[in-house]
Amino acid sequence: MEIETMKIVYFPHPALRHKSKPIKRVDGELRTIVRKMFDLMYEARGVGLAANQVDLPIRLFVVNLEADPNKGQEMVFINPVIGKPKGSEEAEEGCLSLPELYGPVIRPKEVAINAYNLAGEEVNARVDGLFARVLQHETDHLDGVMFTDRMSATAAADARPALDEFEFQFQRQQERGEVESDAAIAERLHEWETRYC
Ligand code: NI
Repeated sequence: MEIETMKIVYFPHPALRHKSKPIKRVDGELRTIVRKMFDLMYEARGVGLAANQVDLPIRLFVVNLEADPNKGQEMVFINPVIGKPKGSEEAEEGCLSLPELYGPVIRPKEVAINAYNLAGEEVNARVDGLFARVLQHETDHLDGVMFTDRMSATAAADARPALDEFEFQFQRQQERGEVESDAAIAERLHEWETRYC
């Protein structure tokens, strides 16, 4: 994959179901990937973007709660681990890999996160509200979990027609050769894994 042509992939792209392995090394290329991920996230007006969403099988995601390159703080989370959940809260979520689909998800209100930044420094924080929700949503991506997997049966039923449409479109793109076959995608994911994990 050329980094210049990197783009956000849509459900049900197989990379979104890949459980990513921890990153073992950070190099110049990975820094370029991270920069490009922020750019793609801003273009799509998102607050978070996981590596799976740009077809990369590595445990990393980027966040800027302001969704604006001129505001807020750019944060990179490498090999994140979420723990110590407290409370419970329902809120509407969306995902850059499921454009225009939104639905309610119940998640812990407060969580702790342990991760590394691009400088290799360990980051420990306890967060709540939107920040906690974003960290959980993005960490889920690294495990191949979509927010729609966490919706109630009723909300999931409401989302079904939209998910069916995404599946239909993806299949058509593969048939037309606009998206690689599942086998080709799996092979490339494995190559990236060999490089970074
Ligand atoms: Ni998402």
